[in-house]
Amino acid sequence: MRLGRIAAVLAVGIAMAGSTPAGAHPRADDDSLRAAARGSGVRIGTAVDMSALAADTPYREGVAREFDTVTPENVMKWEAVEPQPGVYDWAAADRLVDFARQNGQLVRGHTLVWHSQNPAWLTEATYTPAQLRTILRNHIFAEMGHFKGRIWAWDVANEVFNEDGTLRDTIWLRALGPGYIADAFRWAHQADPKALLFLNDYNNEGINAKSDAYFALVKQLRAQGVPVHGYGMQGHLAVHYGFPDTVLENVRRFDKLGLKTAFTEVDVRMQLPTDSAKVQAQAEGFGSLLRACLLVKHCVSYTVWGFTDKYSWVPGVFEGEGSATPADENFQVKPAWNTLRDTFLLVRR
Ligand code: G3I
Repeated sequence: MRLGRIAAVLAVGIAMAGSTPAGAHPRADDDSLRAAARGSGVRIGTAVDMSALAADTPYREGVAREFDTVTPENVMKWEAVEPQPGVYDWAAADRLVDFARQNGQLVRGHTLVWHSQNPAWLTEATYTPAQLRTILRNHIFAEMGHFKGRIWAWDVANEVFNEDGTLRDTIWLRALGPGYIADAFRWAHQADPKALLFLNDYNNEGINAKSDAYFALVKQLRAQGVPVHGYGMQGHLAVHYGFPDTVLENVRRFDKLGLKTAFTEVDVRMQLPTDSAKVQAQAEGFGSLLRACLLVKHCVSYTVWGFTDKYSWVPGVFEGEGSATPADENFQVKPAWNTLRDTFLLVRR
């Protein structure tokens, strides 16, 4: 069985490394990432492709065995849950939430306010700003209300800044002004008071203009009493661009505010074909983000954006690139997988 192979290859990797500290394993026969993460204070998660979960048994077993949180890759996005105004389709998202419950997993909800993957009916030509405000509010109450009590953490606002730290020009900024972010968090907190509410973005892992903008925004929101609980860093890295070297410093400054942090969509792509140098560099990319997470107090989760190259968004978007996840198309683990597992076992808060 393929999943058995993951375990077997891992066992070989660990045995060869000879680096597993005594007592770190909760159970000697459990080689999963999930077991390695236990007791670390950081949950290990994966994005889930719902078509694959339905059709591919090794994939489904991998999600269940290796991870303790799941994030829907697409099925909680607005276009998926409200294809026509007022017509909701929760079926696929419900299936994931049920799967998570059966497997003792928590769910990261993704995502409520975004500029992308919105339904085709949602346009500025059709609605006035006042109507758009009501539509956004209703969306947050409808979706969070439907899943109330069953989602651990929500990516409330996704990708709101440009690289230079200015607010991204979106339907929400144009219609509602910059206050839409605070409004979204207030509504989200009313809709499900127990859910952790996150900001989330890419290229905000190290210190740069974008993460500076988030730092300023979080301080401003908190000063206004807005319920924002977490800072999400997607972690879409690429071997050929190198990795940010100020991740720990960045995570620390949010941590010191008392904010929770999370790596929410980690993958490390490379130019194809792969070679051993790229694959080793990839492992370092995955590991460096996990180390930063484990070294601060309030980093709560580390999620990979897919755990097998069989289902990865990367080749469809970046021509000539791929191999971005920690296991290949045949569920054979790469050095990155072992690095994640070893990092959980070796780095303790
Ligand atoms: O659902 C339709 C299906 O009906 C149609 O037949 C098919 C034909 O192409 O397309 C399907 O939609 C695709 C959708 O994924 C669901 O599979 C879209 O074309 C495709 O563009 C979409 O891509 C997703 C992308 O977000 C959209 O922006 C990726 O799977 C998903 O991994 C990616 O995830 C984002 C995070 O949400 C936010 N951060 C960045 C990350 C990577 O882009």
